[in-house]
Amino acid sequence: MRTKIVAGNWKMNKTASEAASLIEGIKKEVAGITNVEVIVCPPFTDLKDAAAACAGSNVKLGAQNIHWEANGAYTGEISASMLKDLGVTHVIIGHSERRQYFGETDETVNKRTKAALDAGLVPLVCVGETLQERDGGQMEAVVIRQTKAGLAGLDISKVVIAYEPVWAIGTGRTATPEQAQEVHALIRRTLAEIAGKAVADTVRIQYGGSMKPDNAKELMSQPDIDGGLIGGAALKADTFAAIVKAGV
Ligand code: PGA
Repeated sequence: MRTKIVAGNWKMNKTASEAASLIEGIKKEVAGITNVEVIVCPPFTDLKDAAAACAGSNVKLGAQNIHWEANGAYTGEISASMLKDLGVTHVIIGHSERRQYFGETDETVNKRTKAALDAGLVPLVCVGETLQERDGGQMEAVVIRQTKAGLAGLDISKVVIAYEPVWAIGTGRTATPEQAQEVHALIRRTLAEIAGKAVADTVRIQYGGSMKPDNAKELMSQPDIDGGLIGGAALKADTFAAIVKAGV
């Protein structure tokens, strides 16, 4: 049995003090839930206060990116060890917004994922096709390529995958449970090619893209959908907690 995992991707939202109060709200709502892993991923500048707010609770802390080097002359970048030192346990890697706006490639996704694993952080590795790719019949090829290239040479047993169809992110247009399940099953078959079925069956695959309290349960009840990576609905304690509860 795979433990469900629900993570909030706050993107570039919330100051440090706002983060602390949002986490306080989430903590109250999800207290006592043990069969869903709950993670918040605020911006870097919030992490220290967020770590203090998460301390002693069942809410874990994630970041939204890392650099692949341990330290050095990389102005503006943040390393895995810096995050670990603050109490971060998870990190989003290869989000489509980073691929679209910040030059992220399958190769840099692979390097960042390796750095996360080497440091003992759990990477939430994002894959997903654009609308143009889906309409052009390339969905399968894109998802397989991103999965294989992003994870090449790595121990996938510690990785979480997030399937995020780009056309569903922030658009209010969710993949249907059937559409999402089809791709999640494809990803799991791809993971089985990489590391064998036994390992692939243990890897959690989150769905992301306009997941909300009213569609979360149906999505997460699909056989290969093991949780959610939540954007907009993660910015309010009640909607985020409702999604967590849908996974219980
Ligand atoms: P959304 O974002 O829930 O606002 O669609 C999901 C994501 O980008 O991770």
